[in-house]
Amino acid sequence: MNPVDRLVVALDVPDLGGARALATMLSGQVGVFKVGLEQFVAHGPAAVEAARAGGAAIFLDLKIHDIPRTAAAAVRSAGTLGVRFTTLHALGGREMVAAAREAAEACGADRPQLLAVTVLTSHDAASLAALGLASDDPETNALRLARLALEAGADGLVASALEAPRLRRELGDGFWLVTPGIRLPGEAHGDQARVATPAEAVRGGASHIVVGRPIVKAGDPRAAAERVVADLAAAGPGPGGA
Ligand code: C5P
Repeated sequence: MNPVDRLVVALDVPDLGGARALATMLSGQVGVFKVGLEQFVAHGPAAVEAARAGGAAIFLDLKIHDIPRTAAAAVRSAGTLGVRFTTLHALGGREMVAAAREAAEACGADRPQLLAVTVLTSHDAASLAALGLASDDPETNALRLARLALEAGADGLVASALEAPRLRRELGDGFWLVTPGIRLPGEAHGDQARVATPAEAVRGGASHIVVGRPIVKAGDPRAAAERVVADLAAAGPGPGGA
């Protein structure tokens, strides 16, 4: 995989004009633009159109979690927007993931690829216990949910780069592994407690990395994206994904 194709930039800005300007400025340096809930709730499909100004694939981060029929309908709608990736919660269960996959398949060859979110990184052991998920530690919960989601039809996972080696060891190479929490050496972590560099993430098994603030908030976002791509290139070939 080409290093540029591995770079997902999160267009985490509130307004459409800002997202469109960023996407245009970063054109050619980014493989995928991620449209999050903030943009999509405010602007709907226009947010996807704004991101498309960058000429790259689109990742619509919907984090779907609903009854199987509704989840499937949401995936069908994402398919009509021509998005390359979307997300759903593994906690929605086997039937929901399977229904989502069936709906994705019906979208044709360029169908949305379904990425499962396992345990949100905002959870710790105590908040999982409060949800009744106390029998396992967070990592074991995440691995169990990842396996369930892949068996039910997810095309990949969203996970910390620090978990990537274990996920690859336990679950193999046949799925996308998309890792947020990426910082270049010496860069501010912000609210990300556990970070990896782009090259570390790919060496650990990531097929894609998600970068937000280090590029979006940079004085020169294009130069920042170029630095990330250079670090990705230093990682060598890495995994291809699904
Ligand atoms: O600005 P930063 O690089 O931290 O942005 C990372 C992006 O990845 C944000 O859009 C954030 O919502 C998303 N994300 C994350 N951690 C997760 C899942 C998604 O940071 N576990």
